[in-house]
This record gives sequence, C-alpha cells and structure tokens, in this order.
Amino acid sequence: MIKIAHISDTHITSGEAYKGYAYDLIANEINTLDYNLVIHTGDVTNDGLREEYERASYELKKIQKPLIVLPGNHDARNVGYELFQKYIGPLNGIYEWKDLVIIWTDSTIPDLNDGRIGGYKFRWLKEKLEEYSHKKFKIVASHHHLVPLPDTGRERNVLFNAGDVLELLLKHEVNLYLCGHKHVPNIYSVEGLVVANSGCTSCRKTRKGDVNSYNMIKIKDNGKISVTIKRVTEDIHKRDFTVKKQRIFIPRKKRLFRIIQISESNVSDRIYFREKVLKNAIKAINERYKPDLVVHCGDIVEVGIERYYKKAYALWEKIKGKKIIVPGHNDITYLGYELFREYFGEPEIIENENFTFIPIISAQYETPIGVVGRIGQKILREHLKKYEDTFRVIIMHHNITPIPKSREIGFLEDGGNVLKILTDEKANLVLTGHGGNSLGMKIEQTPIVNAGSISWELHRNPFGNSFNLIDIYEDMIAAFEIQATWGSRKLLGIWKIKTEMPWD
Ligand SMILES: [Fe+2]
Ligand SMILES: [Fe+2]
Repeated sequence: MIKIAHISDTHITSGEAYKGYAYDLIANEINTLDYNLVIHTGDVTNDGLREEYERASYELKKIQKPLIVLPGNHDARNVGYELFQKYIGPLNGIYEWKDLVIIWTDSTIPDLNDGRIGGYKFRWLKEKLEEYSHKKFKIVASHHHLVPLPDTGRERNVLFNAGDVLELLLKHEVNLYLCGHKHVPNIYSVEGLVVANSGCTSCRKTRKGDVNSYNMIKIKDNGKISVTIKRVTEDIHKRDFTVKKQRIFIPRKKRLFRIIQISESNVSDRIYFREKVLKNAIKAINERYKPDLVVHCGDIVEVGIERYYKKAYALWEKIKGKKIIVPGHNDITYLGYELFREYFGEPEIIENENFTFIPIISAQYETPIGVVGRIGQKILREHLKKYEDTFRVIIMHHNITPIPKSREIGFLEDGGNVLKILTDEKANLVLTGHGGNSLGMKIEQTPIVNAGSISWELHRNPFGNSFNLIDIYEDMIAAFEIQATWGSRKLLGIWKIKTEMPWD
C-alpha cells in the first residue's frame, strides 16, 4: 500500500493569511502517521516574495517525508516562479515509486489567478502519460481544479483548457488528479478518474467557515483507492474507489426512450449558418432516427430578431413529434427573450410515464457566461426531489463539465453548486449545449452530455456539425454523436443504470 498526504494552499507569509499553528498541527500529524509521501498542490506562499520563500523552505523542512511541491497562482506572483525553482524545486516533474507514477505540472499564468496547461506543457504531459502508460497507478497533479467545485462563489477559474486536460487524463486512464486552489476539500469520480481537491492546510481563507484540512490518500495493491478529507477537527470524510478498466457494455434489456439532442443551430442569414446541413439533419431525424423527444439545448437563432425567429420556427416545425427547447445566450439578445416566448413559449416540464424532462434557464442577457442563480438552484433541487421516482433529465444551455477544444469563456458561473445539486440528487441525465463541441461523461452517478453545434460553422468540434442520439434502455444509457452531413456515428458514452428505476 502507498499512503500519501495531500496538502495544499499553505499561503506562507509573515502577514495574516498564514496560520502557523494549523500548519504545525498537520505537519506533526503527517510525521507521526505512516505516510510514504507528501504532495503539496501549490500556493505555498502568499505573494511569491523572497522573504516568503525563505520562510517556506524552512517550514517545509518540518515535514520529514519525501515531499513533492507544485507551484500555485500565488507562488507565481511577482515573478515568484523563478524563486520557486531556487527555494523549492522544479515546476514540473515526475516521481516514480513501485507501480506508481506521479506527474506534476505547473498550471500557473504569471499574475493571473486562472490556470492553463497549454502549449509545450500540454505536449509534455501527453508524452509523459504515454511513456508511463505501463504503470498500474497514474497520478497527475496541478494546482488548478478540473471540475467545478461547490461553495466557491464565482466558479470560473478552472484551467482555461480544462476540457482538453480532462479528455487527456481520461484517455490515458489516469487514476487520480490532485489539485488545490479553491480552498474547498472535495472528491468527485469522473468516469474512472478520481478528482481530489485538497482544502487549505494553513491559510486563513477557508470557505463557509470551514476549518483547515488535508487529504489522506491510500492506494492499495488490490486496486482500491481511498481518499479521506482530514480536517484539523475530528470531522473525517472518507470515500473508496476501485480502479476499473474502461469497458464497453451491450444493452441486454428493452429500449425505453430515444432522445435526439441538438444545439446551436444559430439560424440566421449569415454565411456561417449552414441551412442545408440543418435541413439534412432534420430529414435524418424524422426519417431515420424517429426519436420520442427532440431536445434543443439553446441558441436556435444567432441573434434575437424577428426575422431569424421566424425562419428558425419554420425549420423547427419541420421536426416531427415531441420537442422541447431552452433558450441560449444568443436567443435572448435584443428582444430575443420576448420573441422566444412568443414563438416557442416558456420552457415547461414534460412528464412522460417514467420520464421527467426538466428545463433550467441558464442564459443571461448580453453575455455568453451562464448562471442558474441561487433561486434557480433551489428550483432545480426541488424538481429533482419532486420527481425522484422517475428518470429525471435536466435540460439547460450552458455546459457544466469542461468541454475539450473550448476555452472556458462561457462557463457556468455557479457550475460548482449546480453540479453538486445534480450529483447529490442523482439526476439521471443532464443535457447541455454550449461550447461548440460534444462530450459525454459521468460524474458520480450522473451522465452529462453536451451537444456540439448542428449547423453553425464556428464550432470547435473536429467531427464537424453534429447532433446527439441518446437511447435509454432499462439497464443502460447509450449516447452517440451523429455527424450532421454524413450520418456517421461516434460513441460519447455508455453508462449502466445502477439505481432502482420505476420500470424495475
Ligand atoms: Fe490558494
Ligand atoms: Fe490558488
């Protein structure tokens, strides 16, 4: 077994931010318990100053175990990344121990709080993951988080290219991603990857009145991983995970429901709107896929003007059967919200035997950034509870999980809280449609599927314009992406339904 102490955000300074006694308490505990290794995921200092680095190198010596230290955004302030290398160690590196490899990368951007593992660093990480692909346990560590966190206020400074990094880690079957930064301890399972955030070890700035903490990680030879949040009080929160190889399942039971998910039609008279592609896709949806429900995740028009709405509505009418649409940020520009209501009505909950489709509005006026808001969050939780005896599908415009190839400019402002509600209440499926690229992944028990653009040339999808086909079977959910012009298919995800369902 390998036992790792995961500390973070010590914020060592001569000023108020640093809580020396909390640090000493945790350092002492780490020394007395049988840890093999300690990893510090950054923000060692508060401002990257020389006096802070001098003190930090003294404080870090109190930990009498092998120690890996990463730079955080605070360490990079005032060109602190130069001092980091002088006083602490390399910004990027590799640590090997038996079956285990730890690859850590610098995710900081000088003088910004946001993070990025871009360019050469991304390539380096990819190369190293290939080089160490034979290792049984793979850990990647960076300062910034990958998945939005609850209770962190404005949830926006994840890595700019979080989607690309997440995709890379999943492809290379990385078992653990360790990070800090937001001062909130949190553990999520994302498909086969465990994403562990450490809280802050000795910084005064905890959230919601929480206390200082660190994470205890145990990696057992039998493939079990456990992560325990250890607060300086007695409050301990432990979770176990089993390392699983990715498998492909075949549905063995009846298909119950078929959804076609489309997004970002951006109907307009602009050259980027590919009307032919959209018409072709509508034909395929009607004649070939014959879904039980068509879900449009927003941005049906490129700007909210009457002429575009008229055109969009005429195309929408061509789609046969049941349909539901939520507005995107483009739809509500200018007089868009009024026009949206006029043409499509206010999005309403659809109840269909064992299924409930719940629309949630996330678009805001004149900005691509989304927000559900505190009232919206309350409504979301209430609906999920009210319909908990059915298969609940949440429909909204903004993506909650980071999307590959898209910089997280249009991320959901309160994505962390929304994701927490969805996973807490075990939403059965979440459909989103922002970012111009497709993605399917399961976080905790909840599959989340984002749609690329069906007919807008300015997308970020190497597969081209596309829409998603989602089949719900009694025992699993299968999501495919369909190329809008050629009809070719790509698997987005297959997820077993593990909870008791109304049809069981
Ligand atoms: Fe921090
Ligand atoms: Fe940070």
